[in-house]
Amino acid sequence: MTEETRLIHSGLAQTPLARTVGPPIQRGSTVLLPNAAALYDHESQVTYGRQGLAAQSALIEALAELEHAAGVTLYPSGLAALTGALLAVLKAGDEVMVVDTIYKPTRRFCDTVLRRFGVAVRYYPASLDADALMAACGPATRLIVLESPGSLSFEFQDVPAIAAAARARGILTLIDNTWAAGLLFKPLDHGVDISVQALTKYVGGHSDVFMGSAAAREDSLVRLLDEGVLNIGWAVSPDDAYQMLRGLRTLATRMSRHDASARRIAARLATRDEVGQVLHPALPGAPGGEIWRRDYSGACGLFAFTLTPGRPAATEAFLDALELFGLGFSWGGFESLAIDCDPQLSNRLSPAAYGGPLIRLHVGLEDPEDLMADLDRGFAAWRAVP
Ligand SMILES: Cc1ncc(COP(=O)(O)O)c(C=O)c1O
Repeated sequence: MTEETRLIHSGLAQTPLARTVGPPIQRGSTVLLPNAAALYDHESQVTYGRQGLAAQSALIEALAELEHAAGVTLYPSGLAALTGALLAVLKAGDEVMVVDTIYKPTRRFCDTVLRRFGVAVRYYPASLDADALMAACGPATRLIVLESPGSLSFEFQDVPAIAAAARARGILTLIDNTWAAGLLFKPLDHGVDISVQALTKYVGGHSDVFMGSAAAREDSLVRLLDEGVLNIGWAVSPDDAYQMLRGLRTLATRMSRHDASARRIAARLATRDEVGQVLHPALPGAPGGEIWRRDYSGACGLFAFTLTPGRPAATEAFLDALELFGLGFSWGGFESLAIDCDPQLSNRLSPAAYGGPLIRLHVGLEDPEDLMADLDRGFAAWRAVP
């Protein structure tokens, strides 16, 4: 053999791997099969890297444990998990009922792609109870999409009641459960068919990796979701899967800190004159509090509050004065974030009157007293605007 050939084939002999705590990060598009008969034996082995190798399998197994699922399908982003799951279960002629408070890019997908492919899309208010929702469903309704709580205005839906009523009518249910991160609320235990989350948020935890997952209760749905990914051709990288698995290890510990800090800040905000209402389910009398106490084991770091109304420049001054809270979308990372929600509320069917500009906070892992001092800076700037 010439050096040219030797360079291509040297160093490829594989020795058994030393055992490490995490799975090996196997990078591979090509999978080498042991013999010719194995080449087309797709049922009993992995034949191509797009299906995922060791790190992706380890993540799937851990997420199935977290979600109490029969199986989990991975997607390259949280939005891809939502759109991919919708494409996997819907066909032309079906109708999907989508909660009006849905994450805005999911709504955009429904209004554009789903409608273009002949799926009827209808929106229902998050306040609709199970009976009213069932009465609104028609003979073509195949799927109900829930998001509880809404990730801007924090309406809680009665998920178990809706899931049970839908099941009795033969209608599937899917929830965007990103707020609970698969940890604080277990949708599949409450009768939901498909639980989707943007792993990008709390599971990743460091605002630097995109991924999404769809967990299903029944094997037939797991197969449908897997086939959807196979048909579309999505893949997630082993490095990203490894990062998600790493994030999972500290999810519960980080979440209890996010929760404790956010509750403390929410309670303090509720005492301030500049604040109208605080939309955090743990506060006494908060909307959705009863459902949250019944179904959830805790809260995350994401909640909202209103400023007293009437001075748009003051809202901007409040946000611009913040030094620890970054101004940015997304959430679930170690860092605190703030946004003004109002521009995102306009395309809802029933834009609720929140009584003033709605500000969403993501409370990160910083010391909550430092964060409160940062918000005080914002309030001082707010007051200074004439
Ligand atoms: C509630 C909710 N679902 C889904 C997503 C989408 O996640 P990703 O950014 O990974 O596409 C987001 C992102 O902000 C979100 O807030």
